[in-house]
Amino acid sequence: MDERDGADRERQNGHDRPEPNAPADTPTAADATPDRPPVLVVHENREHLVRPGEEFGSDLGVLEVPTDVEPGTTLETHLGTPFRVRKLRGPDLFHHFERTGAPMVPRDIGLVIAETGVSTDDRILDTGTGTGVLAASMARCGASITTYERDAEFADVARENMAIGGVADDVDVRTGDLRDDLEALREGSGFDVLTLDTGDAPDIVPHAPALLVDGGFLAVYSPFVETARETAMAAREAGLGDVVVRETIQREMSFGDRGSRPSTAPVGHTGYLLIARAV
Ligand SMILES: C[S@@+](CC[C@H](N)C(=O)[O-])C[C@H]1O[C@@H](n2cnc3c(N)ncnc32)[C@H](O)[C@@H]1O
Repeated sequence: MDERDGADRERQNGHDRPEPNAPADTPTAADATPDRPPVLVVHENREHLVRPGEEFGSDLGVLEVPTDVEPGTTLETHLGTPFRVRKLRGPDLFHHFERTGAPMVPRDIGLVIAETGVSTDDRILDTGTGTGVLAASMARCGASITTYERDAEFADVARENMAIGGVADDVDVRTGDLRDDLEALREGSGFDVLTLDTGDAPDIVPHAPALLVDGGFLAVYSPFVETARETAMAAREAGLGDVVVRETIQREMSFGDRGSRPSTAPVGHTGYLLIARAV
C-alpha cells in the first residue's frame, strides 16, 4: 500500500485535485445503460445528467426525458421550467462521472493526449483506471484502451462510467494489479502509448520499453515531485529516450475594474507529467 491508499476514498491516492461539481441529485452511473447514453439537461447554472426515457425530479419540477431526446432541443418540466439538452463533451466526464480514484483534470488530459499523440486505432495501456476520466477521454479520440484497476469496486464503477462516456466497447477495464500481468503483457505486440497515474509507477516504468512499440510514448502523472524524480530516473535507466518532466500549472487571470493580473485563487498546480519515448 502506498500513501494513496487511505480509508478516505474522497481523497483517494492523495491527489489534491479539484472536486467535481456534479449536483447532488444527478443520477448515479448505475442508472446509465450502454445502449442509451445519457445527455445533459441545463437550466441557468444547473446541469444534470439524465438518461433517455428517464423521469427526473427536482425543485424545478418533473422533467420527462423522451427516449428519442435530441441534443439541441429544449424540454420543459411540468412547472414550465425549460432545460436545454446537450450531449456530453470531454470536460463533462470530469464533472459527471461517478468519482472513485482522483480523476485527472481536463487540462492534464489534454497534455497527455497532445504530448503522446493519442489517435484513432492506437492501442493504449493505462493504469490505474480510477474514475476512468483519462481512459474514457483517450477512447473518445478513437483509441482502444486496456486499463487496470486493482480496487474491484472502483473497476465496477469505471465500467459504468465508460457506458456514460459512450466508450464501453473501446475500454477494457481489467480488475487487478497491472504488476501481476506485466510478464504476459510484455509478450504482446506492443502498445502505442502507456499511461500511468499510480504511486507505484517507478516499479512499472522499467517494463515500458518491452510494453511499447518502437516510437511509442510513456506518460506518467505524479502529484508529488519525489515520485516524479524517481520515475524520471527509472525511465532513463530503462533506456527510454526524450525523457522530460514538467510541472503542470495554470494561472487563472483576473480582469477587474482596477486592472488585470493573475488571480489570487490557488496557484493551479495539479502535478508533474513525465513524457518519454521508446527509441
Ligand atoms: C489517481 S487514480 C487514477 C485516475 C484516472 N487517471 C482518472 O483520470 O480517472 C489511481 C488509481 O490507480 C489504482 N492503482 C494504483 N496502483 C495500481 C496498480 N499497480 N494496478 C492497478 N491499479 C492501481 C488505484 O486503486 C486508483 O484507483
